[in-house]
Amino acid sequence: MRRKPHLRKHIAVLPCDGAGKEVVPEAIKVLRAAGADLEFQEYDVNADQYMRSGQPIPPDVWNDLQKADAILFGAVGDPRIDDSTYLAGVLLRLRFELDLYVNLRPAKLYDDRLSPLRREERRMVDMLIVRENTEGLYVGMGGRFKKGTEQEVAIQEDLNTYLGVTRIIEYAFGAAKGEVVMVDKSNAMTHAGGLWQQQWKAVAKKHPNIKTRHLYVDAAAMQLVRDPSQFDVIVTGNLFGDILSDLTAELIGGMGIAPSANINPKTGRGLFEPVHGTAPDIAGRGVVNPVGAILSASMMVKHLGYTEMANAIEGAVESAIRAGECTRDIGGDLSTSQAGDAVAKRLKD
Ligand code: IPM
Ligand code: MN
Repeated sequence: MRRKPHLRKHIAVLPCDGAGKEVVPEAIKVLRAAGADLEFQEYDVNADQYMRSGQPIPPDVWNDLQKADAILFGAVGDPRIDDSTYLAGVLLRLRFELDLYVNLRPAKLYDDRLSPLRREERRMVDMLIVRENTEGLYVGMGGRFKKGTEQEVAIQEDLNTYLGVTRIIEYAFGAAKGEVVMVDKSNAMTHAGGLWQQQWKAVAKKHPNIKTRHLYVDAAAMQLVRDPSQFDVIVTGNLFGDILSDLTAELIGGMGIAPSANINPKTGRGLFEPVHGTAPDIAGRGVVNPVGAILSASMMVKHLGYTEMANAIEGAVESAIRAGECTRDIGGDLSTSQAGDAVAKRLKD
């Protein structure tokens, strides 16, 4: 059940590291321009803090994050530290412990010039990847035996539960207008694949009006490149969803503009982050594209119930991109903050 709404929604802001620190302020700028009545509280969760305290998320911050109406997130990672422990302690902890089991990754092409597709009719890209976000190969089960020797054995378990598989497939049917495509690798990974196949068929039966199709992940990657306009909703496991959503990001203009939402539709909790990471190669120079973060903020306000505002933000992004008022990676010549201004000013008019 959704928690009792406060008068004013509290948004916990975690810009984190690198590019995240640059794009999150732009998302907040746009939310303010759109008139969002939100209270933002920023937290010191980042590599510097972790190196000082040894805690990816300090306990008092964790308490606050659990109470927030939503979390606006940048990106985590730092070349100076062991990525996996830090990642597990921040992003994966939030996804797992807040049980944000749905990871929504929409891919919509806002302007033809951003498309790598030769054929015009294949550029109607407007799809949603529904990625399972709390299980699969991400759970960190397994271990390394005889570590450091030439006999070393490393095992990474792929965890799939009846509950986890069923609820994500159910969510996908709820989100689809046309068709749901389920993607797995059940020809080779028969145990996990068997459970996905079984629940896919069971849930599909309850939605006779929605078309269904199944693709193995290799074929799905091929079809996504060949003609992405064929897709509406794709539902898949954690790792395949991660991989395919980088592919779909590239189809719409690159990692800089792809948004994502990590949500639990039952509790109402949510964390909203661009698909891109900290981009250490370009971070800190004012050239990072803020659109992924801005569109993630739009997904956040939609999740909080402000559908019109979400649509207005998306429309402003589309208009700025079409006018070429954007960063270099998508053909403009604006800085991060100017690109944020270009979206914000369209909302103020
Ligand atoms: C993403 C990222 C993360 C993931 C990493 C940073 C663990 O690539 O959100 O897509 O794989 O989920
Ligand atoms: Mn990823």
